[in-house]
Amino acid sequence: MAKPASSFSKSSHAFMAWIDKRLPVSSFWQAHMAGYYAPKNFNFWYYMGSLALFVLVIQILSGIFLTMHYKPSAEEAFASVEYIMRDVEWGWLIRYLHSTGASFFFILVYLHMFRSFLYGSHRAPRELLWIFGMLIYLALMAEAFMGYVLPWGQMSYWGAQVIINLFGAIASIGEPLTEWIRGDYFISDATLNRFFALHVIALPIALLGLVLLHLVALHENGSNNPDGIEIKANKDENGIPKDGIAFHPYYTVKDIFGVSMFLLIFAFVIFFWPEAGGLFLEHDNFLPANPLVTPEHIKPVWYFTPYYAILKAVPDKLMGVILMFAAVGILFFLPWLDRSPVKSVRYKGMWYKIMLALFAIAFVRLGMLGMSEGTPAQTIEMRVWTFVYFGFFVLLFFLSPRLKTKPVPERLTH
Ligand code: HEM
Repeated sequence: MAKPASSFSKSSHAFMAWIDKRLPVSSFWQAHMAGYYAPKNFNFWYYMGSLALFVLVIQILSGIFLTMHYKPSAEEAFASVEYIMRDVEWGWLIRYLHSTGASFFFILVYLHMFRSFLYGSHRAPRELLWIFGMLIYLALMAEAFMGYVLPWGQMSYWGAQVIINLFGAIASIGEPLTEWIRGDYFISDATLNRFFALHVIALPIALLGLVLLHLVALHENGSNNPDGIEIKANKDENGIPKDGIAFHPYYTVKDIFGVSMFLLIFAFVIFFWPEAGGLFLEHDNFLPANPLVTPEHIKPVWYFTPYYAILKAVPDKLMGVILMFAAVGILFFLPWLDRSPVKSVRYKGMWYKIMLALFAIAFVRLGMLGMSEGTPAQTIEMRVWTFVYFGFFVLLFFLSPRLKTKPVPERLTH
């Protein structure tokens, strides 16, 4: 016999009914959580999306508290960051959360993107999901670049100088364009002010909007999976994918586990290694910006260095700039460059595995070389890996429809 409902559960039901009549909370929960079926074979790579979402929240929250104490003026910015580190209660923690969060964000996003190269998540019908991801990536790069200028240290100043001057390479409009970006004839208080506005308002709003679109596009077709098989092609009599499991509670629990593991590593870095040997916070940035003294070795933060190496690999400045932008731009076309009859690397032959391994090594190696001094030998190596980087996409386009593949099973494997 069913137990009579307690007065608490009766009133909570009545409350939910009241809410649902005014806001579709229960139907939303059902459509996107408890009744949303995701492939049952998600693995390690499928942690990164929810973790990126988690770090986005950390960045916004820590950013709000930093903004309460930071001063966006060339006169006071550097000192206000020192003030946050030394005098504001828990200020050091808030700043390290934000600076470490930025680097972790990129680590997660790079792993998140690499998963697509493994399992073909960018392929039809998920091309728009990928495009929104790429727009997020662009917005994230702009957000990180402008954020890095705000402490007004030597590397903030000179890094911005190098990057903004790149636009000067464009014929005839180059000079006025750099002036327009800076808001002045040189990097100044005006530049810092506009970067602050973009960093704390415009780009976070753009990022949130794009992440929302990314998730809407994801739920439209559902997730891909390590087998690259569409689970919606195999449904039971109730219309539920046979290889699907409810997102809640199965994947909410999985993601909470992921967040816990992530927090362990994140906390370790924040408490014991926040500068990461100059990778996350560069040594030169502990010196106040000085327009009269150029640092010995200007380089961007690690997450930009693969592209910086491509820029340095080319002797001609304009060609270097074009190739650097092309290195990011080409990723937008991945869904159409990859023409393999199968999605997942599991059913692709050895050739794709070798190509992908070389591509990954090229990206990491370019990242390392981008931080180097750029000796003649290093410059030659940059050229070789730049060639490998672009070669991957060219080969992908021409070879992917021809390379041998294995038969894809109808149902997910375990
Ligand atoms: C703020 C940054 C980002 C957030 C918060 C985010 C969030 C998510 C989440 C929660 C998922 C579902 C869970 C998962 O598959 O891991 C997902 C899937 C996906 N994301 Fe992102 N993402 C971000 C950036 C990107 C970028 C930069 C790209 C690529 C350029 C991208 C491409 C994809 C693709 C292709 C999928 C579907 C994967 C599959 O179903 O196999 N995302 N994203």
